[in-house]
Amino acid sequence: MSYNLLKGKRGIIFGALNEQSIAWKVAELAVEEGATITLSNTPVAVRMGEISALSDKLNCEVIPADATSVEDLEVVFQRSMEILGGKIDFVLHSIGMSPNVRKKNTYDNLDYNMLGKTLDISAISFHKMLQVAKKMNAIADYGSVVALSYIAAQRTFFGYNDMADAKSLLESICRSFGYIYGREHNVRINTISQSPTMTTAGSGVKGMDKLMDFSNRMSPLGNADADECANYCITMFSDLTRKVTMQTLFHDGGFSSMGMSLRAMVQYEKSFEEYCDENGNIIYG
Ligand SMILES: NC(=O)c1ccc[n+]([C@@H]2O[C@H](COP(=O)([O-])OP(=O)(O)OC[C@H]3O[C@@H](n4cnc5c(N)ncnc54)[C@H](O)[C@@H]3O)[C@@H](O)[C@H]2O)c1
Repeated sequence: MSYNLLKGKRGIIFGALNEQSIAWKVAELAVEEGATITLSNTPVAVRMGEISALSDKLNCEVIPADATSVEDLEVVFQRSMEILGGKIDFVLHSIGMSPNVRKKNTYDNLDYNMLGKTLDISAISFHKMLQVAKKMNAIADYGSVVALSYIAAQRTFFGYNDMADAKSLLESICRSFGYIYGREHNVRINTISQSPTMTTAGSGVKGMDKLMDFSNRMSPLGNADADECANYCITMFSDLTRKVTMQTLFHDGGFSSMGMSLRAMVQYEKSFEEYCDENGNIIYG
């Protein structure tokens, strides 16, 4: 059911790779809610990926861009304003990649060139996007920019590696730029800290299936999926949230406020039983 929440609005969606991508779901819902959009992803992703199927379905253009390139980003904003016929009302940054994670380099054995790339792609690209947009005056008053984050920005999670540092930086950029862009143009900037979600980027995280199971058991409402994340993004792009800015907004079924759930505690106890010897002594835990 459509609520026409984005009727007449113009948006740019970065990061739709395939049907699992969170950005893919956001693009579909944005159009359903009345927006006109452009899509952007890396030239390689555009060539090799399934994004043309999405652009055909939604009748929107794809503008290839490496989000670490200021020149590419300038083209995305310029072309989008031309195609959509005016300033941009909303932007989704749904971009993340760690070469260290890909190469299975552990956090105490990082390759620093790769760390630089992780930060550039997953966090500094957000600053570049905002700086380009602001210099071009490309975002309309009360426009809304959202980037996707993860709770590893605040707490340590096994296997999340240097992406945790990238997410911390991403959330910091959201606050720092949110102040300036809000003060000067009423543009709001937020991050949505999403539950673990089985996507191409998500499946790169070590032990992803177990992490998803754990957070699902720990969250009173269970994990939020990609469709639910899209719903939240749309409300953040809509006029219903005009005074929300500079926030890390947790969209995680309550996980971020939990300490210990009954379900998780029972499961944890069971794991010890499995490792007791016949005298009840714990032999492994
Ligand atoms: N999947 C999860 O568990 C989860 C949880 C919380 C937050 N997030 C975040 O959500 C966002 C979207 O990820 P996803 O889970 O939909 O996975 P995804 O793999 O579908 O999306 C990641 C996207 O980043 C793009 N990308 C990589 N390098 C780029 C570059 N240099 N320039 C432009 N684009 C580039 C990829 O092509 C891809 O489209 C990421 O920021 C991710 O960290 C994901």
